[in-house]
Amino acid sequence: MTENFNRFLDLTVYQIYPKSFYDSNGDGIGDINGIAEKLEYIKELGANAIWICPIYQSPQCDNGYDISDYRALQPEYGTMEDFERLVQKAHGMGIKIIMDFVANHTSSEHKWFQEAKKSRDNPYHDYYYWAEQPLTPQWKSVFGGPAWEYNEATGEYYLHSFAVEQPDVNWTNPKVRKEFCDILDFWVDKGVDGFRCDVLDFISKDFEAGKMYNGPMIHDYLQELFNRDKVKHIFTVGECQANESSIRAICGEDRGELKCTFQFEHLRFGRKDKFTKFPHRIWDTASTLSKWEMFSQKHDFFYTLFTDNHDNGWFNSRIGNDEALRYESATMFATMFYALRGIPFLYQGQEIGAANASYSKLTDFDDVETFNFYKENKDRFTEEELIEKINFGGRDNARRPMAWNSREGFGFSTVKPWLGYNTRSGEINVESDLQREKSILRYYRKLLALRNQSRVLRRGDFLDLSPNEDCFVYLRTLGEERCLVVCNFEKEQQIDLSVTNGELMLSNYGCETATVNRIYKPYEAAIYRIRSI
Ligand code: GLC
Ligand code: CA
Repeated sequence: MTENFNRFLDLTVYQIYPKSFYDSNGDGIGDINGIAEKLEYIKELGANAIWICPIYQSPQCDNGYDISDYRALQPEYGTMEDFERLVQKAHGMGIKIIMDFVANHTSSEHKWFQEAKKSRDNPYHDYYYWAEQPLTPQWKSVFGGPAWEYNEATGEYYLHSFAVEQPDVNWTNPKVRKEFCDILDFWVDKGVDGFRCDVLDFISKDFEAGKMYNGPMIHDYLQELFNRDKVKHIFTVGECQANESSIRAICGEDRGELKCTFQFEHLRFGRKDKFTKFPHRIWDTASTLSKWEMFSQKHDFFYTLFTDNHDNGWFNSRIGNDEALRYESATMFATMFYALRGIPFLYQGQEIGAANASYSKLTDFDDVETFNFYKENKDRFTEEELIEKINFGGRDNARRPMAWNSREGFGFSTVKPWLGYNTRSGEINVESDLQREKSILRYYRKLLALRNQSRVLRRGDFLDLSPNEDCFVYLRTLGEERCLVVCNFEKEQQIDLSVTNGELMLSNYGCETATVNRIYKPYEAAIYRIRSI
């Protein structure tokens, strides 16, 4: 990889769910000016980029992933001037701006679809997929229910891989491809530094083979979008189901496609499906990370490091301990992920050890996926079971307003928020966390500061040295520099490694010894600089 490409390893991205981050004007909805006010907080945490989930004009059927105008902002979030000020302020502080780019579908309220559905000879008709009979009747929408919906006016069905209100655009149409290039350029001209590309592999389908995503044209489309002089330099991360055989072709430096993709394999542990718990071992997660570290290193591409996002219940509730050892578990996982080679992504609230909420009625939720799940499973489970499943896996866990302090409104808003606060906000909020001796946020700050200062942690090679399956131990090496990362799991144990002692760089137990071979406590994590192995 060239140095120019390698610099993406210096990014640390903080993901913002704008509706729930910070409400600056007291209407119960987070907004752009709210993000601007919290940039110092993000900078102090150690991030140097923010990814903002969609703030474009949208009927909000899928909280902004249903866009009705790609060049306008949703008024609740603010004006274009607010956005331009945000970009300016962020850039002044060395923070890059990454926008969400939703190219697989528009909102059904988008002008293109409003026209397209009128008649078969409307100039926009071909912007979407139509058929007199569903081409692939077996396809289910990702949010449940059939993926084809009937449209009276034309006597046809249209495809929606997600909600009915999110018709898939027809990427085989060159006009559509040109439209999306223009949309990218519009935001690049506004100073945007990168894009997180929503369900990007869905843009190429293979109806004959029954493939809803990752169709044969995916690479051509991505090159058409991103291999242009105007956008070549920008950061891109794709939400793709890339596996070992497909990932390198989509994000190698020589490809002109994406800079990296999210690889989701490690998110499957601890659950059978999105809403159903399943036993797991932390080793499953560790060994998956280890595999991808080796694979990305060998094949020269960037792995992405993340535990949470806006689409899942909290990682620390699913895989870790969100009760008595919440601090230890949250900080151990932070160490385990963010001392690896790759591009760190943190999701708002993760840095204070956020945990799942516990609500009791469906009306306490506001997510199309949750509502569809409830409807489709009403006959299979009792009400209580359904709510338990939603509390476990529902996306609203991560979408509830950020808690900044423990006073009324939790420092998020002065009025009732658009979605109820997390039921644990009184305990888990920024101010209370900072007041504790064991502060998760302070640990995150130290960890990211260490990463930002240490080239070996950002760029170094990875080597798995785990002596057993109850811990994850790895070495990062760059030239003469070596960092050893020890992450112990639930059980206290003696860990012996054939390394010389070094200098302790970080410990989540306030431990001060430089002795590497010793007893490690439950969820203990330590980073050492060592001389040799
Ligand atoms: C992605 C987004 C998710 C959204 C879906 C449809 O998976 O992360 O929030 O609902 O795409 O756009
Ligand atoms: Ca607001």
